[in-house]
Amino acid sequence: MDAKDMGDDLAAVLIDADQIQARLRELAAEIDRDYAGRELLLVGVLKGAVMVMADLARALHTTVEMDWMAVSSYGSGTRSSGVVRIIKDLDADLTDRHVLVVEDIVDSGLTLSWLMRNLSSRGPASLEVCTLLRKPDAQKGHPGKGGQAPVKYVGFDIPPEFVVGYGLDYAEKYRSLPFVGSLARHVYRPGS
Ligand code: IMP
Repeated sequence: MDAKDMGDDLAAVLIDADQIQARLRELAAEIDRDYAGRELLLVGVLKGAVMVMADLARALHTTVEMDWMAVSSYGSGTRSSGVVRIIKDLDADLTDRHVLVVEDIVDSGLTLSWLMRNLSSRGPASLEVCTLLRKPDAQKGHPGKGGQAPVKYVGFDIPPEFVVGYGLDYAEKYRSLPFVGSLARHVYRPGS
């Protein structure tokens, strides 16, 4: 799928495929340095992280295992609430493992901070996060209140727009785009 397949549902390409791949190679080099001599367990959050996980894992020289978790964050429309339910849990035991959570996007950070509390209770040796995208709300921070999830590796800071592509969907569509684009307003606000 490409830009022309979206017709007028695409407002703009925010980050093109080459920019994504170049940034993932930089992040992979950082992660390789930080985890030198250790084995890493990558935990991908379904479904959005599928593309980031596939490309990041292949850019790493570190030996990795990959595991997946699916969570559902209750919310209305395009906002999440932080009330999270596990749809599919990990197969791996995290005890004494070096765990890197791989995310597509951190918006409010509520989903991620719930996930971090959940995963840290399983006794990993270390627990960090890599996200391709981060929106401004995620950086405000509410220390101690669980609103801020610290993210060690960030691909791109983006404006607070609704984006699709490279794993991210709107109503399950557009995950297969090779770039990150913003959605035309008429798609999610009909009549506006
Ligand atoms: P948070 O809990 O507000 O950080 O929301 C996290 C989840 O909301 C992400 O894992 C995505 O599934 C979804 N999400 C947030 N912003 C966007 C967006 O711009 N496009 C697509 N999905 C998004």
